[in-house]
Amino acid sequence: MTVFELLLIAVVLLVIMYTFVMSRLPKNLPPGPTPIPVVGNLLDFHGSRQMYKDFLKYREKYGNVVRLVLGPFQNVILVFGHKAIHKALIEQGKYFKFRPTKLYVNEKVFHSKGIAFGNGEIHQKLRRFTLLTLKDFGVGKKSLEERIQDEACILADELESYGGQPRDIRKILQRAVANIIAGIIYGSRLDYGDPDFLRLIQNIDTIFAIQSGNLPENVLPFLAYLPNSKGRKILNAYDDMSRYAKRRIKEHRETFDPNNIRDFVDLYLKAEEHEDEEVVNEENMFRVIVDLFNAGTDTTATTLVWSILYLMNNPDVQDKCQKEITENVGSGRAVSLKDKERLQYLDATIKETLRLASIVPLGVPHTVQEDTQFEGYTIHKESTIIFHLNSVLTDPNIWEMPEEFHPERFLTEEGKQKEKEFFIPFSIGPRSCLGKHLAMMELFLFLGNLLQRFTFKIPPGCLTPSVERVNTGITCQPHPYLVCVVPN
Ligand code: HEM
Repeated sequence: MTVFELLLIAVVLLVIMYTFVMSRLPKNLPPGPTPIPVVGNLLDFHGSRQMYKDFLKYREKYGNVVRLVLGPFQNVILVFGHKAIHKALIEQGKYFKFRPTKLYVNEKVFHSKGIAFGNGEIHQKLRRFTLLTLKDFGVGKKSLEERIQDEACILADELESYGGQPRDIRKILQRAVANIIAGIIYGSRLDYGDPDFLRLIQNIDTIFAIQSGNLPENVLPFLAYLPNSKGRKILNAYDDMSRYAKRRIKEHRETFDPNNIRDFVDLYLKAEEHEDEEVVNEENMFRVIVDLFNAGTDTTATTLVWSILYLMNNPDVQDKCQKEITENVGSGRAVSLKDKERLQYLDATIKETLRLASIVPLGVPHTVQEDTQFEGYTIHKESTIIFHLNSVLTDPNIWEMPEEFHPERFLTEEGKQKEKEFFIPFSIGPRSCLGKHLAMMELFLFLGNLLQRFTFKIPPGCLTPSVERVNTGITCQPHPYLVCVVPN
């Protein structure tokens, strides 16, 4: 048979399959751009560096619920605006709480296990177990607060060693944040220069820069086998992270003493003795570890990178934060959680950073396991559903001058926090961020302690750095920038 004949047969088979699949779709699907055969709408945003913005254009044309097709068959539903997102994730949360299982790269990596991509009863139990452990991390020799304060101090010493010279500090912030997770999970921090640590961070970087609900390899699996494909890079990064996690678990098992619980891994090993084996087992433990490193490092570090950028570009805001610290804490001791009540402006500045930077602009994909009626449409089962959090965080109908950095919007006239139901950087509902409290604690302690010691300045002779958001994977990153970290 010639190549041409083979190709012809492949095309005919694909057309038959396509017609079959299409004929079985529900009739009342949400509107959206017309897909082209085989690739669907993939080419509309292929290579985009601002995916969340490309999606916003569909909202203008089709409304708050939009259907795309990725690859030959995968339905992707985009949901925009607070009303629709709230309806799906809170009012209809029991239908919308699932993670997709049909995305090729995701499935190869997660096998629908762990917290971030697991489903069902085991996921719920695992999530509860992990939340409890993170909430009251009274194990090991140090409290979580002390760990973060210590790391902030090591980070500050490192920044001081730059002698006020212009530097790109993104990588060092990432290492400091990753060390908090390392401390929780493995009981001790890693040296900033440790080669294992650097590889771990490089892997997280790779994953966050390219993984997304609309990765072509998720819907056209053969792409993952091309040399240098993004899908292959993600799979390699996860394999490497998993090998490291398994090695550390083995070391813990060998030195485990139930009377001396050192960290999360020990807690898990102890739970193996009495908890449901389906939930607490080595496979789940290593998946949770990888999930926590992934979900907890790039997100929080990126927020710090944005905070410093906004502070540098808005010296009046930086000045107010520092005055608040000087008046309420002074310089004789570290900023601690008990200062939070009095450092309201700093808290508002952190919230404004999370809002404006829209750290995870498209959330993490969800799905429904059965055809579901929503806002007058049918959401077909197993569609990938993307909740456009940025459309809420920068909605001009909610926030006055939404593209301006203005922490005061989170404060009452008396300088107290204003509760804002539209502030949803951690998403809402049953799958909302499990590390929200840890992240807010880290941001407060890292920023408070850094601002106590330093002022962040634009390097002499440089233009004000851009605040454009770059979104190629899960997070929104700023363009790389240089900063002078000047001791106060
Ligand atoms: C500023 C920092 C952070 C931001 C903006 C953020 C944001 C988010 C968002 C938007 C989701 C998706 C929620 C959904 O699907 O509806 C999520 C999920 C998740 N986050 Fe975070 N996150 C941050 C930090 C952390 C930290 C520090 C950890 C853990 C140590 C963490 C662990 C997780 C986990 C495990 C999930 C999956 C939850 C599930 O599927 O049940 N995150 N996060």
